[in-house]
Amino acid sequence: MKILLTSGPTRQYLDPVRFISNASSGTMGRELAQAAIDRNHEVIVVSGPVKVSYPSEAEVISVETTEGMLEACLREFPFCDGLIGAAAPCDYRPVSVSNQKIRKTGEPIDLRLVETEDIVATLGQQKRADQWTLGFALETEDAHFRAITKLQKKLCDAVVVNGPSAIDSNTNSIEIVNHAGEIILALSGSKMDVAEAIILYVEEHLAK
Ligand code: C5P
Repeated sequence: MKILLTSGPTRQYLDPVRFISNASSGTMGRELAQAAIDRNHEVIVVSGPVKVSYPSEAEVISVETTEGMLEACLREFPFCDGLIGAAAPCDYRPVSVSNQKIRKTGEPIDLRLVETEDIVATLGQQKRADQWTLGFALETEDAHFRAITKLQKKLCDAVVVNGPSAIDSNTNSIEIVNHAGEIILALSGSKMDVAEAIILYVEEHLAK
């Protein structure tokens, strides 16, 4: 299989030196890339800025913003069998980006944010009958219900549910929810073990 994998955070700039982002480390993405390569799959990683290094066998496309991640994914997805959306793209971007550094004035400033495009949802709409998409859902409450809603909204074939303890950690606790909303697999362990289980699930249930 040829797998497109998004990984890491994105950045949305307010001015040339400041941005909003999140604490995603890219660890889960790196382990998924490794697990897929170990199972003889081809992997294209579209990654935001991270410190982790991806396996040398993977093709890595480095991006900064959610728009950049979407653009790279739209370009690569037609040549791939499926998408694993393990990235944590910024959901919001500033309405306007200042050309110059925003100066302090002693007064509060208002930051107006608009939603960015959702990459998993966009590719979900574009997928052919022979392609699949697997999303992630990081939930702090009502995990199962919210994951099913997300899965339907983003037209995913399945969703991996995890909690906030997954961020910047080497371990993870996940559930895989299929398109019918059933929990197919629940697993806690190192991100390496979890990644292996996710790739096996893709091979057995999503690959067409
Ligand atoms: O809605 P939420 O951000 O919780 O959904 C998480 C899933 O959606 C992940 O698979 C993530 O990679 C994906 N996502 C995306 N584009 C965004 C935001 C989230 O692909 N702009």
